[in-house]
Amino acid sequence: MSTKTLRVNGSRLLKRLDELAKRGAREDGGCNRLAFTDADKEGRDLVTGWMRELGMKVSIDAIGNAVALRPGLPGFNDGPPVMVGSHIDTVRTGGRYDGNYGVLSGLEIIETLNDASITTRRPLAVAFFSNEEGSRVAPDMMGSLVYVGGFGLEEAHEAVTIDGKRVGDELDRIGYRGDAPLPGPVPYAYVELHIEQGPVLEAEGFRIGAVTGVQGISWTEVTVRGQSNHAGTTPMSYRHDAGYVAGEAAAFVRRLTKEMGGAQVGTVGYLTLEPNLVNVVAQKAVFTVDVRNTEETLLQSAEARVDEFLGEIADAEGVQISTRRLARFEPVDFDPRVISLVEETALSLGASVRRLPAGAGHDAQMLARVCPSGMIFTPSVKGLSHNPREHTDPADLELGANVLIQTVLTLTETTETDPFQAAS
Ligand code: GLV
Ligand code: MN
Ligand code: MN
Repeated sequence: MSTKTLRVNGSRLLKRLDELAKRGAREDGGCNRLAFTDADKEGRDLVTGWMRELGMKVSIDAIGNAVALRPGLPGFNDGPPVMVGSHIDTVRTGGRYDGNYGVLSGLEIIETLNDASITTRRPLAVAFFSNEEGSRVAPDMMGSLVYVGGFGLEEAHEAVTIDGKRVGDELDRIGYRGDAPLPGPVPYAYVELHIEQGPVLEAEGFRIGAVTGVQGISWTEVTVRGQSNHAGTTPMSYRHDAGYVAGEAAAFVRRLTKEMGGAQVGTVGYLTLEPNLVNVVAQKAVFTVDVRNTEETLLQSAEARVDEFLGEIADAEGVQISTRRLARFEPVDFDPRVISLVEETALSLGASVRRLPAGAGHDAQMLARVCPSGMIFTPSVKGLSHNPREHTDPADLELGANVLIQTVLTLTETTETDPFQAAS
């Protein structure tokens, strides 16, 4: 049969999404599978079990990335696979689609090919990368970054979670410190299917996004040390209030994004105070600053403005401020050939398609360092994500998976006049 007519089974994909969502399920319908927790292990066990049931050979590396392989035709099997994938960890208040959709669509592709008894020319790989979210332990995209050799394994193992555990110990505890080689084998190409997580496709009436790249990401942890004192007796002019400084900094980040305009975004999403009591001036505040921009120079100026603000307020309030870089990634452009392929494939399936950059971080931005890479987006209802109410219409989920399978089949079947290999 012609592979052009091959379509995935949407209800089977939804069933797997439902089943995975039961691991780390929240009462409000969302998911809490922070990286390297027991719930993450349960999700990993389920997904690697499915991979094996589908006849794939699963390898786990020392940062816990899982790569499942389906062989290609003789003569192509020693060559690199076309890889699809994403992540199955979530933020604490996550939904059921972010990351999971890309991985489980990969499995749906494999099952569709198995059912049709089709062996692709090039091998196919389905991967899930560890700790894409980075919200329990930075940096985000940790697994894929280690996979491509952009972050040392030892440094990753020594990274400490917000609940005080070493990543290496947590990997041992959940049984996912494997021995597959790192950096990992370079794929022929990498394609990640993901929900948009923003409002653009829905608002403009497009069903598929051909993702052009990922904006730059800068995460900083800020620690403010002041002096605790009595909230009633201490005149305002005597205070060195770490809580006040943190609040001012959060307000400054918001003002900065307004002033800079354009694509600049900024968030203070984590904040703790010490001793955190109603009648005590806080002696210590720890908070994070997340700033992102599609333009590297603008991102650098946002970072400089934040630093400048922190210096000024430290002097004015008589507090000490120290900062620690948690993550820093420059904006990434995806391979123009992959972007065009996604666009053409979506159009060939009769889908409306729009090019757009990704606002969130993605494993594809790390894979883009080593092979032609790109992403396919499907709409997110009301643009909600990192929220238990994250939702994508089942028909859109199915369409996205069909765009993925057809995109992948073009890549696996390219022949002698091989545009991807020649240029990479
Ligand atoms: C991680 O995926 C992020 O974009 O925060
Ligand atoms: Mn994601
Ligand atoms: Mn996410």
